[in-house]
Amino acid sequence: MEIFVIANQKGGVGKTTTTLNLGAGIAKKGKKVLLIDLDPQANLSSGIGFTQQFDKESWNTEQQAPYKNIYDVIINSTPIRSVFVSTSTPNLFLVPSHLSLAGAEIEMVSMISRETLLKKALAEVKDDFDAVIIDCPPSLGLLTINALSAAENLVIPIQCEYFALEGLGQLINTMKLIKGVNPDLKLGGVILTMFDSRTRLSSNVVKDVRDFFKELAFDSIVPRNVRLSEAPSYGKTIFQYDRKSSGAIAYNNLAKEFINRFL
Ligand SMILES: Nc1ncnc2c1ncn2[C@@H]1O[C@H](COP(=O)(O)OP(=O)(O)OP(=O)(O)O)[C@@H](O)[C@H]1O
Ligand SMILES: [Mg+2]
Repeated sequence: MEIFVIANQKGGVGKTTTTLNLGAGIAKKGKKVLLIDLDPQANLSSGIGFTQQFDKESWNTEQQAPYKNIYDVIINSTPIRSVFVSTSTPNLFLVPSHLSLAGAEIEMVSMISRETLLKKALAEVKDDFDAVIIDCPPSLGLLTINALSAAENLVIPIQCEYFALEGLGQLINTMKLIKGVNPDLKLGGVILTMFDSRTRLSSNVVKDVRDFFKELAFDSIVPRNVRLSEAPSYGKTIFQYDRKSSGAIAYNNLAKEFINRFL
């Protein structure tokens, strides 16, 4: 079982879109994939269509969640097996999140081994999946640290925009610090997202990222594609929503690269 953490403390760079569609792409190729939503915003849980079955009031407030979720796993030691759910994509499973996770970071501060709560939880499902992909919140707080402590591969989505590389040094430093608790962690790769072929800026970012990260940058680049932003509002993966879109083609290629590189 290979564990990936999709992280970048910068917001809106495509972490959730990548977790969802890369995971779906890998699952479609016959690998068993577990997605973990580690963001209190729970965008992954709604984008995959999970939260739609509950009335909005009950999952979109900080009150108690109407379903078991990652908060229970991290804070109450609920076994992860009793929390993950299947999705409408065969082979693709989800550990959902809920807004109540927003309080977890503070609750964790006084807990023993607070950096490795997720790692411990995942040890129970060791070998049940081919891949686990963790979607992080846009910060380097304890939730992201838990993901980095549990994973073997840090995967960084980088938006093809101005300031794309800013802040990456901090993320890579955090990764190096985590190696103290988790020596297995390495930089697995970087994914260029929201590429716009009409702008020179996008091409410049691609060049800078490739110069800096060399072969760690995946060949497949995710284009800016409106279908990718529409699909989650229907609770669908890009393959269910528009399998011929440029976004679907990119995530399918990326899934192939992932399987070749890691699985
Ligand atoms: N390749 C793309 N083309 C067009 N829109 C995209 C693309 N990737 C993501 N988006 C849209 O951009 C927004 C941010 O993407 P996403 O939620 O995946 O980023 P994130 O890094 O998870 O954000 P956050 O830091 O808030 O968790 C969303 O509205 C999403 O639908
Ligand atoms: Mg997100």
